[in-house]
Amino acid sequence: MRGDSRDRTPAVSRRSFLLGTSAALAGAAAVPGVVHASSSRTARLRPGGSSWLADAILYELYPQSFADTDGDGIGDLAGVLERLDYLDWLGVDTVWMNPIFPSPLTDAGYDISDYTGVHPRYGTADDVVAVVEAARRRGIRILFDLVAGHSSDQHPWFLRSLEDETDHRYIWASPEQLPGDGSLPEEFVASPGPRPGAFYMNYYETQPAINYGYARSNPDEPWRQPVDAEGPRRNREAMREIMDHWLSMGISGFRCDMAATLVKDDPGWVETGKLWGEFRSWLETHHPGAVMVSEWGDPATSVPAGFHGDFYLPVNGPGDGAPWRSLWRDDPYFSASGTGTASTFVRAWSEATDTIGGAGVTMMPIANHDSATRLNDGVRAAEEFPAAWTFLLTWPFVPTLYYGEEIGMRAVPGLPDVEGSQGRQNNRTPMQWDDGPNAGFSDAPADKLYLPIDPDPARPTVAAQIGDPDSLLHLVRRLIRLRKHHPELGVGSDVRVLTDGYPLTYVRGDRFLVTVNPSRDAVTVDVPDERIEHAHRVEGRGVRIGGRGLAVDGFGYAILDLGR
Ligand code: NOJ
Repeated sequence: MRGDSRDRTPAVSRRSFLLGTSAALAGAAAVPGVVHASSSRTARLRPGGSSWLADAILYELYPQSFADTDGDGIGDLAGVLERLDYLDWLGVDTVWMNPIFPSPLTDAGYDISDYTGVHPRYGTADDVVAVVEAARRRGIRILFDLVAGHSSDQHPWFLRSLEDETDHRYIWASPEQLPGDGSLPEEFVASPGPRPGAFYMNYYETQPAINYGYARSNPDEPWRQPVDAEGPRRNREAMREIMDHWLSMGISGFRCDMAATLVKDDPGWVETGKLWGEFRSWLETHHPGAVMVSEWGDPATSVPAGFHGDFYLPVNGPGDGAPWRSLWRDDPYFSASGTGTASTFVRAWSEATDTIGGAGVTMMPIANHDSATRLNDGVRAAEEFPAAWTFLLTWPFVPTLYYGEEIGMRAVPGLPDVEGSQGRQNNRTPMQWDDGPNAGFSDAPADKLYLPIDPDPARPTVAAQIGDPDSLLHLVRRLIRLRKHHPELGVGSDVRVLTDGYPLTYVRGDRFLVTVNPSRDAVTVDVPDERIEHAHRVEGRGVRIGGRGLAVDGFGYAILDLGR
């Protein structure tokens, strides 16, 4: 047993939270010491609202790295089509595909030069339809990216605006508006001509910011336009047309890129919220059932602003990404050292859920294409992964799986930059399907691959793990099935946190007790619920029931059915 386990005050005396439905609140009254982190008004609402998104298991698929069928070394839509049976087998029901649109690829496709086209390296519009329809037959929905904040500098809109000083699709400052000393304000880039002046960029210089106006004027920045100026209005209309195009082809919604930054200088995101709220109303009228999820990182702000859901991210929101970072990256809770805490996340999540009420959902990825890391980050050992997955698939947010995480693919160090990845290439490597050439990703010569395959001879593969019932992949699949089978484990049921140290222990839907111990040391926890004595384990390893408590081995995890 861990020496200091008695110092870690267990169970309810430390802190306990209850969130969720009225039934759970009624149950809570019988448990002394329970703190309600939510008001009874919001707690009576079903977290997640009525959208299908609340029940989703989301899989982020990086198309260039997933499966290559034409032998050019880059993944394609036909590859996605071929692998839909795998995703179906795994149990995910929603796929977010990163951009597949025509692009000069200075930012891996987030620099779009045609919003309604398909980059030939991925296939054609017919391939999109084929993927969407085949996915739908398997009960899988597809989300695309909506990159509303900027286009490529090769987009015809931008090329036209270079020729026409009266064009306001982008944010331009004319020479007389710019400082007389020749300097440029932050984020501005000198015009490549012939239009004189400078334009506002969003991320890279190749990504001119689309003009949605500024929330307020500033005499020192005379280029600012109001949100209802002609350029911003045209851009809103254009984005609706783009959404309409893809939704009419059968996709189910969008992951909205850099959603917080559309309207510039917008304290409190008031105008940004109005803009997304307008898109949301339009969506509900014209494409009911479609969803918008945001790259925002602050669900308490973004969901009230109009989104159906928002991801926790390494940046933005309370503590600038603290809820996500405290779990996965900076002295994280999910670490063998056992020096982190889950309380930062639990508190932030409780507050966000309280604010959101039933209006939408929080969404949690362990990694994404920007995080430049994976659960397998070179520090964590494989035996640490199950506890993390058990948490991910039993907490009332929308679990978001980044391709390859389900087999424990690692972030590969030392790779070259590709298409503006700038350090993010380490977790964009090709999916490892089997032991064939290029791990079954592609028939191309190895030097033609989008990125090298993880060179580790012991790299995990889907094929090997499918053949091993004790593999991570099978665990992830079982956890997904459990969650889908038991609404108590989903977004719509409450969570009562017993301890947020080591182990993190909580009860879902007043039925399932979940305990996870990411640390290497054994710990104990008291469980103030008499049902624990007769609970039965539905998943887990290294957890023993003893009286009114649990002994949890290092890296132990369990889901226990307390009965109803
Ligand atoms: C957010 C995307 O996730 C990221 O990959 C991209 O580089 C930036 N937006 C800028 O387009």
